[in-house]
Amino acid sequence: MIDISSQTEAALAAIATAETLDALEAQRLDALGKKGWVSLALKTLGGMSPEERTAAAPAIQSARASIAEALDAKKAALEAAALEEQLARETVDLTLPAVAAPKGSVHPVSQVMDELAEIFADLGFAVATGPEIEDDWHNFTALNMDETHPARAMHDTFYFPDRTPGGPASSSEAVGQQEREILLRTHTSPVQIRSMLAQGAPIRIIAPGRVYRSDSDATHTPMFHQVEGLVIDRDIHLGHLKWTLETFFKAFFEREDITLRLRPSYFPFTEPSVEVDVGYSTEGGRRVVGGHGDAPGHAWMELGGSGMVNRRVLEFAGVDADEYQGFAFGLGIDRIAMLKYGMNDLRAFFDGDPRWLAHYGFSPFDQPTLSAGVGARA
Ligand code: PHE
Repeated sequence: MIDISSQTEAALAAIATAETLDALEAQRLDALGKKGWVSLALKTLGGMSPEERTAAAPAIQSARASIAEALDAKKAALEAAALEEQLARETVDLTLPAVAAPKGSVHPVSQVMDELAEIFADLGFAVATGPEIEDDWHNFTALNMDETHPARAMHDTFYFPDRTPGGPASSSEAVGQQEREILLRTHTSPVQIRSMLAQGAPIRIIAPGRVYRSDSDATHTPMFHQVEGLVIDRDIHLGHLKWTLETFFKAFFEREDITLRLRPSYFPFTEPSVEVDVGYSTEGGRRVVGGHGDAPGHAWMELGGSGMVNRRVLEFAGVDADEYQGFAFGLGIDRIAMLKYGMNDLRAFFDGDPRWLAHYGFSPFDQPTLSAGVGARA
């Protein structure tokens, strides 16, 4: 028969002085393990008479409880000490130069957005943003597409189920307020409206960002990127639009022989409306921007839509249409990124494949600047 109380005392003392988690585990096995003395003592209860058992059991049970408790407490203390020690040991010297090869890269779309901001900043444009979760008033109505306008159906819109800002359509807040449907913006044009409402005229902004349409094949993804441009001032005309786009594309593609063709088109929010085509040729299976689209070996490629802002839109946005006028354009960022950097599959943009990113991505240190070049690759 073992002396439970002196055994317990010895175990508690050993636990208290254990210096490592391994030493503590050895103590646990010694007492509470399958062949530990507490476990063996518990087994002896089975062979006792009921009276003996009633006398012996409480001491063994309480020995087990106090040892288990001591083990837990010591374990927590040792772990806390280990963490403290690790925190004290592992310091980072932020003044050391970065020597490790950088991991990760800047996505071409992000890089192109930075290039856009840089080039347009030089032309006096600020960068504006708007929400990707929009309402149908900003995305359609204020852009001269009322509820019945056929262009709405052409946008392949993702709608949210049954909601207006400020609560469900049936909530009391919505009563008396124009009910607005919530959707994922189908273009960056609602930022025109938000910017004019917020700051009035004159205005000169670009608005790059994500847009969404229910559309998917080799050249369309349900999410893609556009950049909106908006200039409102006195005496703005189509010539300013053409010069601005031409100047932008020359800087962006870093070549002087950029030729644009403005082709008559229709958008509800511009009048007149034009589609912007650029001349290109094909070299080694790759499209290269430059030259006149009607020249031998050349063709035209559409890059976006534009036009003079419809006066109805100015009125919706609270701008005096008798005093101010201007132009707007919308370009596909993914497409101009593909053209500039030579990718041919749009879907790869959004696969998140590290090998693609390692190949086409940019160093975080490769910030586009007009002086160093907006297209320079490190
Ligand atoms: N928002 C139009 C689209 O997504 C493009 C556009 C923008 C056209 C601005 C004219 C003016 O197709």
